[in-house]
Order: sequence, then structure tokens, then C-alpha cells
Amino acid sequence: MLNIALPKGRLGDSVYQMLREAGYGCPELEHPDRRLVFENPDAGVCYFWVKPSDVTIYVERGAADLGIAGKDILLENRPELYELLDLGIGVCRMAVAGPAGFTDNRSRPLRVATKFTRIARDYYASLSRDVDLIHLNGSIELAPILGLSDVIVDIVETGRTLRENGLVVLETVCPISARLVANPASCHFLADEVRRLTDALAAQIPQKGTE
Ligand code: PRP
Repeated sequence: MLNIALPKGRLGDSVYQMLREAGYGCPELEHPDRRLVFENPDAGVCYFWVKPSDVTIYVERGAADLGIAGKDILLENRPELYELLDLGIGVCRMAVAGPAGFTDNRSRPLRVATKFTRIARDYYASLSRDVDLIHLNGSIELAPILGLSDVIVDIVETGRTLRENGLVVLETVCPISARLVANPASCHFLADEVRRLTDALAAQIPQKGTE
């Protein structure tokens, strides 16, 4: 049996659709209740729902053999696991955003609010720009509006949240999408099962431009 950590929410729902179409469905999971663990012994899978940012913790520690995590979480937490596949869903970008017409005053550190402190630190280090990083847990867009920060580093998908808060993308940091990740020991001891599932999922990856 493969233990698979699915991220709760919109991304988890699309990932599960891919898994079902790949032959790894779990009928019980399609009748939502409050349970967190769902098994399909015939398909050899056991799914459990976890908070998206916790997927890598389960996989890294071997509580899950496989999981689906956003590239943002992988870049921020740098867990010790294998990244097997870019699933081509949950596509968005990590960006610097701020008020339209913002100009950087390089005579002082740039104040940057973000949930992704490591990604932001690495990005500004690559530009040799001094920053004052402010770690927030959500509603990041508020920070420049209230003068808590100059800019934010955050995920932009449709751009709607920025638009509705009077902010614009200033720079793109990197592209983001959902990845299939695996515990290294599971890849060794359950190599055939992991490969079968990976191949079946690979066949379901949406082709760019045809979605
Ligand atoms: C993310 C991100 C933005 C929003 C961007 O938040 O932090 O707020 O999505 O999406 P958009 O460009 O389509 O508007 P998320 O929904 O993940 O919730 P969060 O507040 O927990 O970060």
C-alpha cells in the first residue's frame, strides 16, 4: 500500500482527479465527510488530507511515501525528499508586488513582507539588495497598503487579489506548480509501486496550451 499525502483544498481536488483518471481512485473519498484517511486496497493506495504546507513534513519523515506539494513550499522548506514530477497544475508565480509606480530607494534596506522568507532572502541576495524581511502568515497584501512594508513577495495566480487591493506585479521571482514528491526510502523499498503511479500520473499531465 502506498501512503499518499494530499493537500487539502483546490489543488488537492485537482490532484485527486488526476489520480482517479490515472487509475488510482478511491470511491469513499468522493463522498466528503470529516474523515482524513481513505483507503482503496484494490488500487493499493491510502490517501490522507493534510494542510498544503505540511505535506513535505509527512513525506520527509516517512509517514507518507508520496505527496503533492507546491514548488513554493519546496523552495521555502527545502525538505530532504525526491521531486518526481511536475504535475503541470496549480500553475502560478512567485512575484514581488507593490503600489503601481513604486521606485526603490536604495539608500536604505527594502522592507519586504512575505510568508516566504527564505525565497525572498535568496532572491534579494541574488540582486545584492539589502532587505528588512517581515514574516507574515496571511493577508500579505495589507502590508504595503498600511505602510508596514514597501513591497511583498507572494504567490500570484489570477492577479485578482493584487488588483482588488490596488497593487501590481513589479518583478517575477520564479514560476510555481504542483510537484509529486517522494520519501527517498519509499522510492527504494517500494520502487515498482512508486514508478507505476508516477508513470500513470505522467500520462495525465495537461499539455501546455491545450487546457
Ligand atoms: C494566495 C496568495 C494571494 C492569492 C493570489 O493566497 O497569498 O493572496 O492566493 O491569488 P490570485 O492572484 O488568484 O488572486 P491563498 O489563497 O493561498 O491564501 P493565504 O491567504 O493562505 O495565502
